[in-house]
Amino acid sequence: MMIKLENISKIYNIAGSPFYALNKVSLEINAGEMIAIQGRSGAGKSTMLHILGCLDTFEEGSYFLNGIDIAKQTPSKLAKIRNETIGFVLQDFSLINHQTALYNVKAPMLFNKTPFSQMKDRAQKALESTGVLNQADKKVTDMSGGQRQRVAIARAIVNNPSIILADEPTGNLDSATAEEIMDIFTSLNKEGKTVIIVTHDDIVASYCTRKIVLSDGKIV
Ligand SMILES: Nc1ncnc2c1ncn2[C@@H]1O[C@H](COP(=O)(O)OP(=O)(O)O)[C@@H](O)[C@H]1O
Ligand SMILES: [Mg+2]
Repeated sequence: MMIKLENISKIYNIAGSPFYALNKVSLEINAGEMIAIQGRSGAGKSTMLHILGCLDTFEEGSYFLNGIDIAKQTPSKLAKIRNETIGFVLQDFSLINHQTALYNVKAPMLFNKTPFSQMKDRAQKALESTGVLNQADKKVTDMSGGQRQRVAIARAIVNNPSIILADEPTGNLDSATAEEIMDIFTSLNKEGKTVIIVTHDDIVASYCTRKIVLSDGKIV
């Protein structure tokens, strides 16, 4: 079991009362799955993705990632787990806009032990695999939404993570471009990566092998 959530709750304090953004969620995900997380706005999808990505803490329950008890790790150990194990793709791309595609894809390697001499080569290979190597020296601001998301996926995979987490990755794209992006996620999954995608879009979800629906912080 790659991912095991047991009775996870994320509780916010709203005007003195507890608000459960996630309410005792249990979930197991095997390596190699391609999963859609669906549900209405406010259902807890992003919260769940942030917890899966070790970006957010939780108040109840336990999370085991590759057998590691996430609640017991120090912040620096969690940062290392994120950098080595998880790639993130977000709706708004979250690229450094005034920099080139190549610079953006190199950025995650600045936080690990990749030898400086290998960074360019690895970044170029990632850009090649998402189909935008010919855009490597272009500034992100000069690219289309689809190209930006290809750069963002290249950045997500450059450290060769085993898990890719995407939050509404096609939310800002037209449907034809969305399908191109989903083809990239599908081929990454076929290469063996575990892919977890939050989406409103049933067409996007149809690319996935399992759908999880959240409602009011619970899996339904
Ligand atoms: N920092 C926060 N403080 C208080 N409430 C929050 C916070 N972040 C999220 N929430 C609430 O938690 C619920 C789930 O949010 P979220 O996971 O972002 O939903 P989704 O991604 O499904 O739209 C929402 O009701 C949201 O308002
Ligand atoms: Mg969200």
